[in-house]
Amino acid sequence: MHLTSDLSLTATAFAGLAAAVLIYFLFLLARNEAVFIPLPHETINKMLMMAEIENEDVLYDLGSGDGRILIAAARRYGIRAVGIEKSKILCWLSRRAIARSGLEDKIQVVNADFFEHDLSGATVVAVYLSQKINDMLEPKLRKELKGGTRILSADHTFNFPEKYKCKTGHFWTRLYVLS
Ligand SMILES: C[S@@+](CC[C@H](N)C(=O)[O-])C[C@H]1O[C@@H](n2cnc3c(N)ncnc32)[C@H](O)[C@@H]1O
Repeated sequence: MHLTSDLSLTATAFAGLAAAVLIYFLFLLARNEAVFIPLPHETINKMLMMAEIENEDVLYDLGSGDGRILIAAARRYGIRAVGIEKSKILCWLSRRAIARSGLEDKIQVVNADFFEHDLSGATVVAVYLSQKINDMLEPKLRKELKGGTRILSADHTFNFPEKYKCKTGHFWTRLYVLS
């Protein structure tokens, strides 16, 4: 008897928690915030190919989530990669994945807001954010990045010279090159 009511209490609490998380997620999406939705690995591979990465490149992933773009860039191209991620949990998860991949010497994850971080060390920048955040980020990229820096943006656009675009899954990924 007690076991049944304990179980139904746990199920109710779990459903309540799941509903709260879903409502919060929808609230962030409605506000055009960039919530954590990881890019598929196939998209990442196509995206990195577009950038024609060379040995001396340094890739920044703005909002690096679970670190998958950083790991793919360091593993495939042997380059240095820096992730800037505001979520402490995602930083912890990505650092764990990086340690498992054995690429700690190549990859750094910074727990910060990328709007408050110096981006001038990048030669390739990857973003998968929202249109609102891309629009807010554009002046900072224009100010801090060197000419020739490649910017890869999944799903949302910038007003930089577009070199190439490619359909990845249900959306477009674009390569911009700063003049
Ligand atoms: C759509 S996910 C993309 C994750 C990863 N780049 C990928 O493509 O798989 C966007 C990420 O950006 C992070 N983010 C959003 N705004 C940020 C900010 N101002 N500073 C740092 N991280 C941010 C979110 O926490 C989330 O992990």
